[in-house]
Amino acid sequence: MIAATVGSAVGLGNIWRFPAVAQANGGGAFLIIYIGCVILLGIPVMLAEFSIGRAGKSDAIGSMKSLGAGKGWRSFGGLSIMAAYLILSFYMVVVGWTVEYLWESITGELYANVGPDMKSTFAGHMKEYISDTWTPMVATVIMIVINIGVLLGGVQKGIERLSNWLMPVLFVLLVVFCIRALSFEKALEGYTFFLRPDWSVVTSGTFISALGQAFFSLSLGMGVLVTYSSYFPGDTNLTKTAVTVSLLDLLVAVMMGLIIFPAVMSFGLNGEGIEGATLVFVTLPEVFMQMHGTQIWSILFFLLLAVAALTSTISVAEVAVACIRDRFKVSRLKAVLIVMLPLFVISPICSLSQGALSGVTIFGLSIFNFLDTLATNVLLPVVSIGLCIWLGWFAPKGLLSDQLSNAGSLKTRLALPIRFIIRWIAPLLILTVFICGFL
Ligand code: PHE
Repeated sequence: MIAATVGSAVGLGNIWRFPAVAQANGGGAFLIIYIGCVILLGIPVMLAEFSIGRAGKSDAIGSMKSLGAGKGWRSFGGLSIMAAYLILSFYMVVVGWTVEYLWESITGELYANVGPDMKSTFAGHMKEYISDTWTPMVATVIMIVINIGVLLGGVQKGIERLSNWLMPVLFVLLVVFCIRALSFEKALEGYTFFLRPDWSVVTSGTFISALGQAFFSLSLGMGVLVTYSSYFPGDTNLTKTAVTVSLLDLLVAVMMGLIIFPAVMSFGLNGEGIEGATLVFVTLPEVFMQMHGTQIWSILFFLLLAVAALTSTISVAEVAVACIRDRFKVSRLKAVLIVMLPLFVISPICSLSQGALSGVTIFGLSIFNFLDTLATNVLLPVVSIGLCIWLGWFAPKGLLSDQLSNAGSLKTRLALPIRFIIRWIAPLLILTVFICGFL
């Protein structure tokens, strides 16, 4: 189960979203704030979710119900599933891009016409691809179909086992790329950007971005970990698990920074238009070009990334499916269709918002970015505040300490500080960051 938890956590969040958010927030200072968020808030909130799940033995709503939470509190559970669902809708689009890049790596098309004029650079290629109406949409739809196939075919276990093998390979691959990046011409400039804090660029928005990214990447506030932990055996050391999962997830994100920023500086990619969603897709092919066997590295990487992303989408979809089955007592087939069919509308709209619908904005954001911001920077923090307050103040007495200590059989010095963080620091700090972020 721990491997499955890592599988849900490590995904496009670390590899695609983290470098983009780090870049948008000015690098070094963001990294420090991000690490702070993971350790001070991410690990305790993860433990809160684990405790609720293992004690309540169900999904987010069901667990809270069986632990005696009233309707109001349970709505946070509902909100978490909604957040997960919104994330799933635009995440599918990026999984589609990943699979397209895998395909173009296999056919060699991605590297066939690389040249100096804009259209044949990777940036030009990516821009043209995502703003096209049909190709990215078809890739997105194919990914939704594959997800449905996995959910209905009952092959999740197989995918999980596969990913247990492939995740370490992905990890090794990232280490190789980190080493290669060391000798890029302007590597030092890249490291300086990513590692040296420049506090002058920090605003209240930096904090909310770091917090949202930490929760997104650790799959927190989505109800995913509540559900996963309901399968944890009684003797799992929750604290150790949370620390391991969080640090591994953090490590993958940091490694991505150590690859992307040296490349961005060395290949002159810090110009306009490749920030954000396209950053990784433009930068990594440049890195592969610097390596013998470009195509092989590229195929391997995008394949592993696709598997990592698939374990994440399946984990979210499964939670929503379990929740629908539980609430409405319908068959698995019906539940899968209820969850997945709406994605055939929402995800293509997200895909189109990079091209044909890019003129449609909500609060000045494209539909894709609006859903991302709403789910990541609003819903995830709100859900986490709710869960922490409920668990810290209103849940049955002793629930948290029992879960952290496995009913007294584990001695952990961290139990007290964790309880304090869940009761006081997490709700107050997240609330402050949240309010300041929107002032
Ligand atoms: N933690 C996941 C990641 O980093 C986020 C996620 C999980 C997104 C599940 C969607 C579904 O990619």
